[in-house]
Amino acid sequence: FINTKLTGKKVLITLGATIEAIDPVRFISNHSSGKMGMALVNACIEMGASVTCIYGNITTILNPKSNNIPIISAQQMHTKVMDNITGQDIFIACAAVSDFFVKNAKNQKIKKDGKNLILELLPNKDILADVCKLKEKPICIGFAAETQNTLKKAKKKLKNKGCDAIILNDVSNAYFGFNVDENEVVFLSQNLNKKIAKKSKKKVAKKILEIFIKECL
Ligand code: PMT
Repeated sequence: FINTKLTGKKVLITLGATIEAIDPVRFISNHSSGKMGMALVNACIEMGASVTCIYGNITTILNPKSNNIPIISAQQMHTKVMDNITGQDIFIACAAVSDFFVKNAKNQKIKKDGKNLILELLPNKDILADVCKLKEKPICIGFAAETQNTLKKAKKKLKNKGCDAIILNDVSNAYFGFNVDENEVVFLSQNLNKKIAKKSKKKVAKKILEIFIKECL
């Protein structure tokens, strides 16, 4: 049985963790492994979509059937997404993007001198919000990784970023979310609040797409 529900559709997916350099040796990043995003890439390909995958730091294996574009920083991810967004039908923002970058990151390794080191962090541009503002925008699905007041915060992100749906991921529970093989999420859109109970990320990805196809396509 081949599911062809996304045949002819072009899907752009971001995944993994961005890396913000402090100097050539050190960086600021997060716990994203890319597993949830890769499960979505694989499920979209199985459903017949043509997929562009823009990925940061990941511990998963890429799918050779997608157009795979590596990036390091959030600024690079922003540039590559904007370079590739024209003509896409669907944008799925699964990446854990750093909200900040280091002002005046150093070209040489910073040496300790017994004093405190103060880093100034500046805000990164919001990739998902910028895609949602495009005149010819694809249908946009965001993710929201939250640790408290999760539903309220995810609903706010859905509204503020202007996306069509948001997948709430409670990352305060170590058994799902970052860097594990299972996940439990809530699919939120303006009219829908649907829990997808804990299961493999592969199955969660399929369920997300099933709901998305029914509700948003
Ligand atoms: O990769 P895994 O280990 O499998 O873990 C999966 C996951 C927990 C990383 C994933 O399911 C998830 O929740 N991804 C989003 C994490 C996140 O950064 O959420 P956020 O609440 O900070 O951002 C909200 C949305 O805006 C996200 O779609 C994010 O991609 C996007 N964003 C955020 C900041 C920014 N500068 N640009 C963005 O596009």
